[in-house]
Amino acid sequence: MAIKLDLRRLEAIKSTDHFKILKDKALKYAKEIENDNSIGFTHLPETSRYIEDAETISLKLPDGIDTLLVLGIGGSALGTKMIANCFGEHLKRRLIVLDNVDPDTVKSISKKINPQKTCINVISKSGSTVEPISLFKYFFNLFRENLGEVEALKRTVITTDPEKGNLRKLATSFNILTLEVPQNVGGRFSVLTPVGIFPLYYAGVDVSSILRGALKQKKEGVEQAITGSIVDYMFYTGGKNIKVMFIYSDRLYTFGEWYLQLFAESLGKKVKKNGEEIRIGATGVLAKGVTDQHSQVQLYKEGPDDKLFVFFRLEKKHDVIIPPAFDQDKGFSYLTGKTFGELMFAECEGTIQALENDGRPVILYEMDEITPENMGRLIYLFELQTAVAGFLYGIDPFNQPGVEEGKTIAKKLLGYN
Ligand code: PA5
Repeated sequence: MAIKLDLRRLEAIKSTDHFKILKDKALKYAKEIENDNSIGFTHLPETSRYIEDAETISLKLPDGIDTLLVLGIGGSALGTKMIANCFGEHLKRRLIVLDNVDPDTVKSISKKINPQKTCINVISKSGSTVEPISLFKYFFNLFRENLGEVEALKRTVITTDPEKGNLRKLATSFNILTLEVPQNVGGRFSVLTPVGIFPLYYAGVDVSSILRGALKQKKEGVEQAITGSIVDYMFYTGGKNIKVMFIYSDRLYTFGEWYLQLFAESLGKKVKKNGEEIRIGATGVLAKGVTDQHSQVQLYKEGPDDKLFVFFRLEKKHDVIIPPAFDQDKGFSYLTGKTFGELMFAECEGTIQALENDGRPVILYEMDEITPENMGRLIYLFELQTAVAGFLYGIDPFNQPGVEEGKTIAKKLLGYN
């Protein structure tokens, strides 16, 4: 397996009756989820149509474009950000994902782009989310002032619901290039739809390999996904209200951001599917290895025993070597000849063992390397795991009424009716 799940000292839970009962249920739920056509994300690994759509749209965009500016938020941005952060340095076009409305950032990005050489991809499934819409108004206007309306329109791609919403209406009235977000895929499960596939394809990411990885994971990785969901369930219901994701890879840090959104919006719920009030959901916390060892680990080891720790690391890499400098000082020479990969690995292992020595529950994911195929595997693994965990809790992992309420109130405050 390209992604290994190691339960470490928790391995013994697999032989408990509780685990076995949950495993039977989780397997049944995984099948239900994968066979249900109203749950779209499980069918995306086999859906190459979105790559064809991305290619068609790309060919219609003007020549000489070196930057794609993606305007979206939440599920409409985090998947693209995650992959862009993994492969950003090697892309044929610069990919900027703007998912905040901080005026300083807006100003700074407008200075960094040349409208002549930039396209805008505004993404909003609902077509009405205030952040991407206001950013779109701003950047479209900037392009119009620089290039005129016709050229600005040629540099715009809208990704939204196939039928509903204000962005769809706008796309039709102005004859803007448009991509569809399938109605049966929710925002946070949508990275393998045009939401992620178009920007990533246009920037030069090997999206076919991402889909291939997701499909391999779908075929080979159900056991891994359900094990993860059972661990989540058992430890949350056993009092671990906080789940810490400790990521030992800067390139994968945005995977943590993507995953924690998926986790929080899918599993943080007030009611069960049957309407019974439940108020459920662990709080996800992201930690950066090794940096946060020096800020959070003291609390994690010696503070309240209310956390499940999920470590994520790459296999030991032997690339950047620590050279023989200052070796006359014996206190430093033990590092000479070691690689930074080995250093990171040892620090990760040290932290895990320190936590385990205090009885803290730790599980570990290990990936051999960061490739598009492995990222596809990762996406599918954690999407299925999250959906199955939702079913174990008896909640609907695909809605987000709490987020919607906040969106509606904000719009009213801004004068929308
Ligand atoms: O996962 C979700 O559904 C949310 O995070 C949405 O993606 C987010 O609120 C943005 O919504 P929209 O794509 O409708 O603008």
